[in-house]
Amino acid sequence: MSFFSKLFGTTTKEEETMTNSKLKIGIILGSTRQGRVSPQVGEWVKGIADQRGDADYEIVDISEYNLPFLGTTDGTEPGIAAWNQKLASLDGFVFVVQEYNHSITGALKNAIDFAREAWYNKAAGIVSYGSTGGARAAEHLRGILGEVKVADVRTHPTLSLFTDFENGSVFKPQDLHQTNMTAMLDEVIAWSGALKTLR
Ligand SMILES: Cc1cc2nc3c(=O)[nH]c(=O)nc-3n(C[C@H](O)[C@H](O)[C@H](O)COP(=O)(O)O)c2cc1C
Repeated sequence: MSFFSKLFGTTTKEEETMTNSKLKIGIILGSTRQGRVSPQVGEWVKGIADQRGDADYEIVDISEYNLPFLGTTDGTEPGIAAWNQKLASLDGFVFVVQEYNHSITGALKNAIDFAREAWYNKAAGIVSYGSTGGARAAEHLRGILGEVKVADVRTHPTLSLFTDFENGSVFKPQDLHQTNMTAMLDEVIAWSGALKTLR
């Protein structure tokens, strides 16, 4: 078994074709800290997405995989293989991104680093939050996604810690974000379907 197969797991063609025709989109929560608000945002995204009926949407919580810090173990933790299998089962992603020191969380970067082919030729949308809508973190994520062959769509809902959260902790999004969310999901679905033909 090669080094990369051991670390990232392997995906067989059979596993890839054992999917039904409906696209599967993972809503990835980028933060893992205790007391995080990302589950509230993820549920809001899923609520809007589920009403569309055009794909199977699911929340993917990095914290459930107990990923070690890359390179600090021999890579045999079951969470690493499970993470790769989950990503391999998905056709596209919506990243729920929060701004930490003008970038994405270390947890999200680590989780991205822990897979390779499972990301390739898939599409993603980004919904971010922070004091400036998480814009700086989202732009960093776009650069990273290019390296793992994930095509990020243009439309990008940006949520403000000041106007879309009460006390920075209770998520109360303004109505205007609905329109952007719909446009972003339209793009994710279109590109996820198109890119599926490459895999
Ligand atoms: C270590 C750390 C650094 C942060 N840096 C920024 C920042 O640079 N810009 C910003 O807008 N918010 C920043 N924040 C505020 C977070 O965006 C805010 O706490 C948000 O709720 C974090 O998402 P989470 O609750 O899902 O973890 C930072 C928070 C932490 C914990």
